[in-house]
Amino acid sequence: MSKALEYAHRAASAWLDGLDERPVAARATPQDLAAAFQGPLPETGSRPEDVIAWLAQNASDGMLGSASGRFFAWVIGGSVEAALAADWMVAAWDQNAALYACSPAASAVEEAAGEWIKELLDLPRDASFAFTTGCQMAHLTGLASARNAVLQRAGWDVETEGMFGAPPVAIVTSDQKHGSVERAARHLGFGRRAIVALPTDASGRIAPATLADGLSRCSGPAIVVLNAADLNIGACDRFAELIPIAHAAGAWVHVDGAFGLFARASRRHRHHLNGVELADSWATDAHKWLNVPFDCGIALVRDRDAHRAAMTLSASYIAPQANARDQIDWTPEWSRRARGIPVYAALKEMGRQGVEAMIDRCCAHCEALVAGIGALPGAQVLHPATLNQGLVRFRRDGNTPEQDDAYTDETIRRINATGEAFFSGTTWRERRAMRVSVVNWRTGAGDVDRAIAAVGSVLAES
Ligand SMILES: Cc1ncc(COP(=O)(O)O)c(C=O)c1O
Repeated sequence: MSKALEYAHRAASAWLDGLDERPVAARATPQDLAAAFQGPLPETGSRPEDVIAWLAQNASDGMLGSASGRFFAWVIGGSVEAALAADWMVAAWDQNAALYACSPAASAVEEAAGEWIKELLDLPRDASFAFTTGCQMAHLTGLASARNAVLQRAGWDVETEGMFGAPPVAIVTSDQKHGSVERAARHLGFGRRAIVALPTDASGRIAPATLADGLSRCSGPAIVVLNAADLNIGACDRFAELIPIAHAAGAWVHVDGAFGLFARASRRHRHHLNGVELADSWATDAHKWLNVPFDCGIALVRDRDAHRAAMTLSASYIAPQANARDQIDWTPEWSRRARGIPVYAALKEMGRQGVEAMIDRCCAHCEALVAGIGALPGAQVLHPATLNQGLVRFRRDGNTPEQDDAYTDETIRRINATGEAFFSGTTWRERRAMRVSVVNWRTGAGDVDRAIAAVGSVLAES
């Protein structure tokens, strides 16, 4: 084995083996990192193994232990072993997975992985799919397909004519939408003004009457974007009621299921997503709840023709292969890594039952964490766990709500500084809160106990 690969293997193993002991937060300061990495471009080279050893030594302290079982910030997820190892193979094979001709095996494996994903998530088996860099680009792919279809129905060929002069399209969504939806809309030329953010009810979901009213105000084509688990409280829109309303109004329905869509794999939790299969396109991530290494998103589209028309390109030097999948026809990228291979590996390692067990485990741990932290003196459950997301807040007697906002942020900072667990903050219904987000296959009951104890010790010192 090359010495550099040997060093990388050793450093990676040490990193993973040390997750339980190492502080979850990064230890290095911005100054430390600048001192380590900034400097003149080297005039001469170094031995590859020295580069790797140097990187491992200098970068590790500036890395978060997000692969650890006690990392509950944002929605990050870890990597199951086969997916991580397959990702190394992807780098070693170094294929350009744009075309079958560039990598026949990558094309075949990604095609199989896409079919398995549809089966796992129980979405239409004849939907098309694309492995993208993340949910952001999966949104772009789904919304580009939607744009193609709704404008086609309005008599406008957007792929030829572009957006200048096109009939205005409304993007009707909720006030709990993720920022990546808006950004995809901007990239596609809709602009922020096209977005209609409908108010949500106390459960964080759009009421059917609200959607019907919102759509009745649209004078032209509409795309409805619904949430399959919002990032604060895991709220899933009422798909079975909302999608027929949207379809009756002639709208395309796109679903943001960045992590929540994977709850379809759980018999216990899939009821939250009843009716989601009626949508027209879905965006999700393998790098979140499927525990595949960054980066890997997935777009799925019911109308294959609209999807292909929105993404495909032709050039004289492309060598299309009959009966073979050219990913370039479905993805927004040209050259690309074979990021579907780690997805295939994760699904092969866990199987349907393993994915279901992981989903159920994360939800149970989230419930225990939210309840356990919420029961501590000085803590409050702001929203109980739904799927794998919940919210807590910290309070002191006599504080105003604004002072408790600052106290909550300060408490999160102090919990993270213990190195025992890592959380992130959010603003929910105008108040600051700590998010409890459990997405990692590694998280176990011991991690939950350690995290609650860490929060308890910080609160006890307040
Ligand atoms: C609900 C939701 N949608 C979309 C995204 C964007 O996903 P990505 O970062 O993979 O592009 C996120 C990211 O956290 C999310 O939580």
